Amino acid sequence: MDLHVVVLAAGKGTRMKSAYPKVLHRVGGRPMIERVLDRARELGATSTTVVVGHLATELKAALSSRRDLTFVVQEPQLGTAHALLTAEPSLASANGTMLLLSGDVPLLTDETLRNLIATHRAAGAAMTVVTADVERPLGYGRIVRTGEKIARIVEDKDATPAERAIREINSGIYAFELDGLFDAVRTIASENAQGEYYLPDLVAIYRQRGSGVETVTVAHPREILGINSRAELAAMNHIVKQEKNAALMASGVTLEDPATAYIDPDVEIGPDTIVHPCVTIEGGTVIGRACEIHSGARITHSRLGDRVTVLDHSVVANSHIDDESSIGPFAHLRNHVTIGSHAKVGNFVEMKNTKFGEGSKSGHLAYLGDSVIGKNVNIGAGTITCNFDGKQKHVTTIEDGAFIGSDTQLIAPVTVGERAYVGTGTTVREDVPSGSLAVSAGKQRIIHGWVDRKRGGTDGS
Ligand code: UD1
Ligand code: CA
Repeated sequence: MDLHVVVLAAGKGTRMKSAYPKVLHRVGGRPMIERVLDRARELGATSTTVVVGHLATELKAALSSRRDLTFVVQEPQLGTAHALLTAEPSLASANGTMLLLSGDVPLLTDETLRNLIATHRAAGAAMTVVTADVERPLGYGRIVRTGEKIARIVEDKDATPAERAIREINSGIYAFELDGLFDAVRTIASENAQGEYYLPDLVAIYRQRGSGVETVTVAHPREILGINSRAELAAMNHIVKQEKNAALMASGVTLEDPATAYIDPDVEIGPDTIVHPCVTIEGGTVIGRACEIHSGARITHSRLGDRVTVLDHSVVANSHIDDESSIGPFAHLRNHVTIGSHAKVGNFVEMKNTKFGEGSKSGHLAYLGDSVIGKNVNIGAGTITCNFDGKQKHVTTIEDGAFIGSDTQLIAPVTVGERAYVGTGTTVREDVPSGSLAVSAGKQRIIHGWVDRKRGGTDGS
């Protein structure tokens, strides 16, 4: 049976006080609407329509890589019923069930949505509402029942004191049968406290006509939390973070201080890995077993093998580190760095787009960019690849077992052959053949008595 999804995301999000669309603010490291759109994809939606309005151009641009979406523009924004009507042309030839999601409700699970669709279809309902029992229903629409059955939904601003006491709320998530839906939505009026066309009014309309309206209640009200303010955004991120931390600890990861472990939901970490305080791990990073990640590290879009050590205040981005290697403190790997196993990258070493072979070492103060470095290479302190000539980037190749003395500049493109030796302070402009020594620093000269003669002493007096 066809399943169509409509996502409402046209609202202004006034309380965010943001120049960006509300639904692009990040929950668990990703724009919240991406999480909602993932649900549609997961459920195998036949079509997904996104209703945009406020900052429509920015929102469409941010979602342009999603090829499976149809955008419709709601302008002006006259309420949730009006928003749904703007999706009518894109669903003109559609039939079956339609799932209505909200771009600002990102924690819904596939399980709840599958349950919603199954309940809706089994009952042959025209509309099924996802509800939740909450401690503090303030601001939400309340579910008014007659006996067991839902009778209508009343918005917070229109509710009587007795209705305000109801703790069962509308999540704003629904399943509808498309047959006759838009004609029914058109009968919704805007005589209410906000002068808006309220989609929840459809419950009373359907009930009066004798069409079936069902409800499903979520087990965990956190699932239907919406975001309307920065405080709610922070609270939701806190929930997501705590759940991730709990799952990691249950799977055998040590978090020395869960309160300051910032680990995105899509990160994977193997057992016996230890995460010290104040660590950030993001963007689908995968970390193996028995690694140790020290304070202040930020690891993003990267892959670490087993028993890797990342020392304090290192940044690892879009990079790959093999088993038993050690990085940092204060190291920076970015833009596709690959570190072989048993390698060591020490203090103040920056690498960019570089392959660094198994067992190689760069202990201190180096910049290695656009380089291909073999196995068991030793890079001395102060080594710099001069990879940029002002116009283009060039490759530096250093073959297995080579030794690069301290304070060396390698002017790319250049190759240092296997087991070659580059003396301290060399500017390498030409290839160094395998097994040979390259030196370019001039012979040291001593001029006796120069200081007293020329300068009258070293203290300048
Ligand atoms: C809505 C429901 C309320 C429910 C709550 C759950 C209505 C009238 N009320 O209230 O019963 O408890 O959600 O979170 O539906 N939107 C548009 N166009 C519009 C107006 C809104 O696209 O003209 C979008 C918003 O961007 C948002 C969603 O619809 O994604 C919900 O709108 P919002 O204004 O946040 O509704 P609530 O007042 O929260
Ligand atoms: Ca809302």
